[in-house]
Amino acid sequence: FTTLVTKVKMSRPTVLMSSPTIPKIAFDLLETRCNLVRTTTDSKNEILEKVKGVDAIFWASHLPLNKEVLENAGSQMKTIGTMSAGFNHIDIGELKSRGIKLGNTPEVLNDGVADVAVLLALGASRRLQEGRLKIENNEWNSHNQWMLGQDISGSTVGIIGLGGIGQAIVKRLKPFNVAKFIYTGHKEKPEGKTLGAHFVDLETLNKESDFIIVACPLNDETRGMINDDFLSKTKKTAVLVNISRGDVVNQEALIKALKEDRLFAAGLDVMTPEPLPSNHELLKMPNVVLMPHLGSATKKTRDAMAELTAQNILRGLGGEPMLTPVC
Ligand code: DGY
Repeated sequence: FTTLVTKVKMSRPTVLMSSPTIPKIAFDLLETRCNLVRTTTDSKNEILEKVKGVDAIFWASHLPLNKEVLENAGSQMKTIGTMSAGFNHIDIGELKSRGIKLGNTPEVLNDGVADVAVLLALGASRRLQEGRLKIENNEWNSHNQWMLGQDISGSTVGIIGLGGIGQAIVKRLKPFNVAKFIYTGHKEKPEGKTLGAHFVDLETLNKESDFIIVACPLNDETRGMINDDFLSKTKKTAVLVNISRGDVVNQEALIKALKEDRLFAAGLDVMTPEPLPSNHELLKMPNVVLMPHLGSATKKTRDAMAELTAQNILRGLGGEPMLTPVC
């Protein structure tokens, strides 16, 4: 009987669920073939404790997934699914050197994140935060030149990174009568042609854009890409939107440009650090619209991300290729 129990147990790999708030659909799917190790908090300490000896990890955290976590897990752990499209918080080099497979969740969040990009572009260009503050401070003034914003119709929209999210942004903004879409990235993309977006270098995008939307992944190449030098060449009337990762933008340089009126406004779903301290300077700036990293935060999107993560883990554990592999 003991042997049988051991066998059954061995054929049911263990998976660490790194957060108690992972959508139910993932628990249901994984439970059909695995034993789940649940956490009661999102804390690093609990994860480090509970990861010991598992076969796979469902990572639903922005905490770094690094050598420390992998060493605590042990060498039997070969499969990770991250419930995120971005994987800048995961040490890919360490994973590769240990032969660990990783899957992420691209595509399923394109619509949700693109919605937020549009929301921030409109909110920042039409002075959403500043307008609210005017009301709160009893400074409502109705003269006809008061609180004028920037038009998206007739504008040039520049997308940094025409991946799935960038493309979904272009599709959404087309009915706003944008005059021209331009984009930059590693290379010209066929999807750009289909969407009527023109491939340009970063410098041209910066010079020509009325709206600059950051939609590229964070990596060594893009970290700090929007810096002092970049912002010194941006149109003074331009609006910057970031739905990628805070570190693509040098935040100090952005704050400086906004304060010196070298940029009209910014709409940020991502910033540095996250969570942003409640006394942070960005919160005091009327021409900044902020959201606490909610790009993919809809019920439908998070469910789809959880399901895809679970599918990737099941495939990884079964020795099949993941649906959306990173490495
Ligand atoms: C992602 O999936 O990378 C989004 O930023 C949500 O975390």
